[in-house]
Amino acid sequence: MGTAAAHHAMTAGSVVLFDARAGYDGLEPLERLTPDVPFPESESAVDNGAGGAWGPTSPPAGPLPAAAQRWPGSTYKSPYPLSERLFIASFSYDPLIGEPNRNPPNQYGLYLVDAAGRRELLYRDPNLSSLWAMPIAPRPTPPALPSQLQPTLAAADEGTYFMQDVHRAWPPLPADTPIRALRILQVLPKTTPHANQPYVGLANASPGKQVLGTVPVEADGSAYFRAPARLPLAFQALDAEGRAVQTMRSITYLQPGEQVGCVGCHEQRTEAAPARQVAAARRAPSVIRPAPDGARPFSYPLLVQPVLDASCVSCHSGPTPDGGVDLTGRPDGHYTASYNALAPRVPYTAWGAPEGNWEPLAPPDKFGARASAFLTQLRAGHEGVVLDDEAWERLYTWADANALFYGTFEPADQLRQQAGERIAGPALE
Ligand code: HEC
Ligand code: HEC
Repeated sequence: MGTAAAHHAMTAGSVVLFDARAGYDGLEPLERLTPDVPFPESESAVDNGAGGAWGPTSPPAGPLPAAAQRWPGSTYKSPYPLSERLFIASFSYDPLIGEPNRNPPNQYGLYLVDAAGRRELLYRDPNLSSLWAMPIAPRPTPPALPSQLQPTLAAADEGTYFMQDVHRAWPPLPADTPIRALRILQVLPKTTPHANQPYVGLANASPGKQVLGTVPVEADGSAYFRAPARLPLAFQALDAEGRAVQTMRSITYLQPGEQVGCVGCHEQRTEAAPARQVAAARRAPSVIRPAPDGARPFSYPLLVQPVLDASCVSCHSGPTPDGGVDLTGRPDGHYTASYNALAPRVPYTAWGAPEGNWEPLAPPDKFGARASAFLTQLRAGHEGVVLDDEAWERLYTWADANALFYGTFEPADQLRQQAGERIAGPALE
């Protein structure tokens, strides 16, 4: 049981029942238990019987814009199921108001509600909303469980991740592309208040990142590795050349000494992983092989520019660079000339990006090095250029790290990175 809430308001709306057997996404698994309240922000408002969709406390001045009418005149919040048809919930007769408008009163009382939307008042405090009702009863104290934390790992401020089979993935990974490694990325805390102020790369509203390195994936798809505790980490499944086939769109943490397991990218929520012996479980955990210089803290001038200086600027510099492409590290706007030339040639994830290349569930191969026609052509051969393995790893690591430029949101440190200087690391690492 849950609350179907708005994206731009407090967590209140219509109460729904989930049936995971009916589907994974979309409306199929949902049954609305409170037909009197529409889904906020996505359905039209209903009259709350007390002065219209906006209630007596917020009389509309003139006709309401269409978007405003999508806010329900009354809402439910924090349901607690007693059965599939009967539950306790908080209910308010005040309309839900979306941001950025001022806070509405939203006065909540506690009700007993049934699946037909009938409600019986249990308790209402005239001065204070009553939320998160929970029936309680005396019961014996449960036994204390022994700690599962591994002391040696805890002392090293590390934990381990175990992955059973990378190939169990939704959406499916391409069948003809074996996964040979995982890249481990750290997502940086945002230390300035607004998205894009300042930008960390071309991608609109991109979170900052840095790259810890890679660990091997066994032929059967399993992996087992140590990783630092207390850092928000995400994983990329890499092909034999070290390019990301799929990217994790969320983060996970280890506590010191914690040992966490997962299944691929990922198993369906309604499935259990099969019990089986896998290769990575029969050996000691891998240690992360560090990414090239310039990946942590992340810095395009340190990660990518050395490759361009060694192999490209001989043709791509001066007043008439070949192809009209300047690949020097000279500052140009918020970035450098080479970054402004190369970053648009990498399909990066961005808020509002085309072809589904944005934060929600992404299809494999739409993103980063494998989706970049420029990098594919460079690999196939360009003007006799020969790059060694480390140079390719630098280019692929950069492209897969969302083609970022900066590894910090701090404006002073960004200026230093733009000039090619090293910074100690992002604040609040
Ligand atoms: C390269 C593919 C891939 C790998 C490998 C992967 N994940 Fe994920 N993970 C994802 C994607 C994609 C999402 C976001 C799914 C979504 O939001 O629908 C995700 C989400 C998560 C979440 C957030 C879940 C939530 O409800 O917000 C956690 C926690 C997580 N993964 C942990 C792990 C752990 C632990 C491992 C193995 C050590 C792992 N992941 C390996 C792709 C991957
Ligand atoms: C020997 C000279 C030479 C070297 C070295 C060289 N290029 Fe080029 N590059 C060219 C020429 C000539 C063109 C224009 C013709 C073309 O597009 O192939 C070009 C075009 C390009 C373009 C534009 C392609 C397009 O489709 O618009 C890019 C991007 C590029 N080079 C990147 C690089 C990178 C990255 C390197 C180093 C890894 C590099 N080049 C090394 C000669 C060179």
